[in-house]
Amino acid sequence: MVQYNPFSDEVMKGDPLPIYKQLRDEAPAYYLEEYDTWALSRFEDIWKASADMKHLTAAHGTTSAHLMTKVQPVTPMINNMDPPDHTRLRGSFRKPFAAPEVAKLEPMIRKIATDRLAQAKDAGGLDVIHEMTAHVAVTVACSISGLPVEDGPFLNDLVWRFFKREEGHDGATNAGMEAMGEMFAYFIEQIHKRRASGPKNDVLQTLLEFEQNGEKLDDESLASHLAMLIIGGSETFPKTFATIAMRLWEHPDQRKMCIENPDLIPDAYNEGLRYDMPTQFLMRQVKKTVTFAGQEMTEGQNIMFLYPSGNRDEREFPEPDKFDILRRPPRIMSFGYGPHSCLGVNVARLEGKICIEELLKAYPEYEVDLPNSERLLTEFVQGYWKLPITF
Ligand code: HEM
Repeated sequence: MVQYNPFSDEVMKGDPLPIYKQLRDEAPAYYLEEYDTWALSRFEDIWKASADMKHLTAAHGTTSAHLMTKVQPVTPMINNMDPPDHTRLRGSFRKPFAAPEVAKLEPMIRKIATDRLAQAKDAGGLDVIHEMTAHVAVTVACSISGLPVEDGPFLNDLVWRFFKREEGHDGATNAGMEAMGEMFAYFIEQIHKRRASGPKNDVLQTLLEFEQNGEKLDDESLASHLAMLIIGGSETFPKTFATIAMRLWEHPDQRKMCIENPDLIPDAYNEGLRYDMPTQFLMRQVKKTVTFAGQEMTEGQNIMFLYPSGNRDEREFPEPDKFDILRRPPRIMSFGYGPHSCLGVNVARLEGKICIEELLKAYPEYEVDLPNSERLLTEFVQGYWKLPITF
């Protein structure tokens, strides 16, 4: 019988996909007694549960640090909210994250990508994470949120420290929590500056004007919301870019197709997202008894959505372990689903498209320097920490 623990070496350091397959086949609702938590591993079950805000709540947090190891307090963030407040806040964010507004970011994204690639020419290579896409992602996240873009590198450093894990320690570390504290202090400073300088038309302003229970948000709550936007916006994209750069290198025929027909690049990025989703899981808590995958789950129990497992579910994707940019699936798991699905989906897709286009234009023959790559060790978000390419 399959044994699964998200903090085990087998899952964190090895390849969790074989265990996820076993879970899908043998125990699509797997119970982790130590954490009073159910793990859902099949696409359809995760999809259904993601949309179910009637029986499930996000208000107690959605990560292992909130619901399993309980080292992170639940602070007000859009992803930790339930309707109706969630619906209202999300509605007020609609415009800056809608496709027409996001399309305006294209020149900024293209300039950072082309500058970074050009600067690396003499060196003959670069780390696609720290020397390229991390800058794209954090600059864009700051710009949307209304924070000074020049503070991007400082914020990136804090975000990456927050995600770093230590051997023998389940979940977020003390150093990670300190980084989060520093980030909050910085946001509070920015909030004070904004109040002094007057209103602007951006996400920070929307937050400053948002009211919950008839009251404006306090500084700590505002900082917490900003943390979600900066972390959500800056951490995942570079990992997805690193893996797509690697998959196209591993599949030269498909790389050639993208070079010859750049219209295929969004399909390639989508397949990269499906194939190598970095977020291993997000969670919900049961607020009203409900059945998923044939198992009754009761109030107070937690549910994990194993996204990379859903993305490799043979019940949803024919030959799921085949990387195929022409697959064009009607749905993937990588941006979640339902009321809490990724707010930044248009941003991520635009960043992916432009960065792949520019990489293939600048260095179509790039090679991945796998021996010098490094992976990040976490139960939560996996993927490359460093992925050098040479040209
Ligand atoms: C490839 C990159 C990205 C991936 C794979 C990704 C993935 C996800 C997923 C799976 C969720 C669902 C959370 C849940 O159901 O609990 C989510 C939510 C969210 N994402 Fe992303 N994301 C990416 C990029 C971004 C970007 C660029 C931004 C912002 C600029 C962003 C902002 C958010 C926010 C604010 C939420 C919470 C939405 C809500 O709770 O209503 N994400 N993301």
